[in-house]
Amino acid sequence: MAVLFSSEEFEKLKEALVFYNCALMNVRTRIDILLEYYTNLRSYNPIEHVKNRLKSPERIAEKLQRRGFDITSECAVKNLTDIAGIRCICSYNRDIFQMVAILKRQPDIKIIGEKDYVSNPKPSGYRSYHMILEVPVYLSETTEYIPVELQLRTQAMDFWASLEHKVKYKYNDQMPETLLKALLSCANEIDDLDAKMFNIQEVADLTRQEPMQLPNT
Ligand code: GTP
Ligand code: MG
Repeated sequence: MAVLFSSEEFEKLKEALVFYNCALMNVRTRIDILLEYYTNLRSYNPIEHVKNRLKSPERIAEKLQRRGFDITSECAVKNLTDIAGIRCICSYNRDIFQMVAILKRQPDIKIIGEKDYVSNPKPSGYRSYHMILEVPVYLSETTEYIPVELQLRTQAMDFWASLEHKVKYKYNDQMPETLLKALLSCANEIDDLDAKMFNIQEVADLTRQEPMQLPNT
């Protein structure tokens, strides 16, 4: 049976979600501005693409229940930091750390959580850099700081995480040992691949700053 908010709590949550959506737009715009800058003014762009999502009331209710909280808007706001989520897919590991450094220099962002699963992968093989950013949402009279979860990863890490998520879901978190091992082995191969691809672009000197003249094809 699906877990649901009462109709009164659902109305309160809908109002709260407006703030999360504003915060999502705020962080998305910061990344889009960097994308615009790198695309037009530099010859190298560390960002491949960006995805964002607002957690649905159904998923919020399900997560609150899983964690043993009451299914209320207040509990969601107090206990969940991933209601607004952004995924920034970068070209190489180095670019992930560059993006983290850039965002840390923005003075109106408060970083309330950070997990570096790129340097310290999870035992499953999961790699990504996670940040919980609190960004200001300026309203008519007040300013609200709202959390947004930002995940930074390479395309290869994203490919792996997406498959692993589907497999985990299919087996209801009880994945057979053979698949756990196969996924861990893929995660390590993907890490090697990321490093090899990075070396190729270093040798080819693709990240130099001046504009490149590409041959006509
Ligand atoms: P959640 O309760 O899932 O939010 O986890 P958490 O609060 O312990 O934080 P963590 O940083 O570990 O995970 C946050 C999010 O990262 C998750 O909701 C997933 O989107 C992603 N994630 C974390 N670990 C894994 C993993 O092992 N595999 C995949 N596919 N995604 C993961
Ligand atoms: Mg989460």
